[in-house]
Amino acid sequence: MARETWATRLGFILAAVGSAVGLGNIWRFPWQTAENGGSAFLVVYLGIVLLVGVPGLLGEFVIGRRANKSPVGALRELSGQRSWGFIGMFSVITGISLLSFYSVVGGWIIRYLLESGVSLVGSDPAYFTNPGQYFGGVSAGADAALYHLLFLGLTALIVFAGIRKGIELGTKIMMPAVLVLLGGLAAWAATQPNAAAGYAFFLRFDPSVISENFFAILGPAAGQALFTLSLGAGTMITYASYLGEDRSLPFDGSAIAVLNTSVGVITGLVVFPLLFSQGINPTETGTGPGALFVGLAGAFSQLPAGTLIATAFFAVVTLAALSSSISMLEIPVAFLVDEYDVSRKRAVTGMAGLVAVTGTVCAFEPSIFGFVAGTLVNILLTAGLAAFLLFVGWVMGRDAIEELASGAGSLGRSLSTPWLFAVGIVLPLFLVFTLLTHFGVDGSIGFWRTVGIAVVASAVAFFGLRRPESVV
Ligand code: ALA
Repeated sequence: MARETWATRLGFILAAVGSAVGLGNIWRFPWQTAENGGSAFLVVYLGIVLLVGVPGLLGEFVIGRRANKSPVGALRELSGQRSWGFIGMFSVITGISLLSFYSVVGGWIIRYLLESGVSLVGSDPAYFTNPGQYFGGVSAGADAALYHLLFLGLTALIVFAGIRKGIELGTKIMMPAVLVLLGGLAAWAATQPNAAAGYAFFLRFDPSVISENFFAILGPAAGQALFTLSLGAGTMITYASYLGEDRSLPFDGSAIAVLNTSVGVITGLVVFPLLFSQGINPTETGTGPGALFVGLAGAFSQLPAGTLIATAFFAVVTLAALSSSISMLEIPVAFLVDEYDVSRKRAVTGMAGLVAVTGTVCAFEPSIFGFVAGTLVNILLTAGLAAFLLFVGWVMGRDAIEELASGAGSLGRSLSTPWLFAVGIVLPLFLVFTLLTHFGVDGSIGFWRTVGIAVVASAVAFFGLRRPESVV
């Protein structure tokens, strides 16, 4: 059967934005910002999105569009080596790991949405009375497992319907709804008392916080940037594999990064004013994945029309989460379809069945959930993107330039040489360095020594590797 493609250019952009915009922006971003110094984190994160995220997105795009295959087949075919196919297998493992915890959080959100929706015509939602206790009850154990299965079932239904009728149609409906609802919530949050304190926390830039904490902020900011842009798992390789040749990848990549970052920032403009308007300082509410739920539930309970606002908020989050979870399930599904000629329906059933089990383990075991959602995902995404970019620079080389320029005219050509240098050398070094920070190598190395190591390693890589003509 012929491989499906996106029906329209907008369809692809919205699907990729839908993959990027998700719990990473709404749940993880405010939590990470609060934990890592507020606006200082925002600045480092934005820098990484621009300097690593956009070129990284283009790297995944050229692999996917060139090969018209999901990561395993794409790396194997473009290199002509089976060993690269094994490296591509990590994307399947990453996709399953991501979805295992993501679906559990998606389940919490559905639970909050249903509780809010039902309360629109009854008494206050149960989480108004004691937000902390309510979150404790729904976030682990049988309840969490049950709602995880519900969220996963919805995800599977969309992926089941295929690229055009499932993922493309679904995100075309979900993404505009997310943007409109979120914009409305941000405008309303601005009218709340003490909203200015929230804006100040989020947006007032203090350079001294960066210079003092740069290395501590770097790892989380890089992890957040990759997570939110859906980079390093092969999601964007898979989505680009359904593209025709006529798209301008630099344009699409920039549009996706700008839209995703805007949603992250608008979410901050909803969450922080709301928390401060209720006298909640996010750095003091305790950290961890529940902070946003507990803090916001408390805020909603004190607001006029709080139940209605809460329903709108959790509806936004549910749609955003679904448009991301479908891209995670699509990675292993596309692998089975491409590599083993399995029908889409059987592939979805098999992979969703597997995640039903792994997600249930995460739902029952908070320590496993924490490890998968934090350290494991950060490491897999960082290592995955480094491998993909090395592949672009050293294996694809000039083919990557050609692919980037196709459909983009002069824009692609003028960008391609500096881009290939960045993705072949500079960005992998940066990613390996941030990877090391997860293993305890941190600021003790010092900034200038780090730059020195990077320069020497670049030179060795540039002159020492077997196919130096591949890069630039
Ligand atoms: N990029 C997705 C998100 O931010 C995973 O939720």
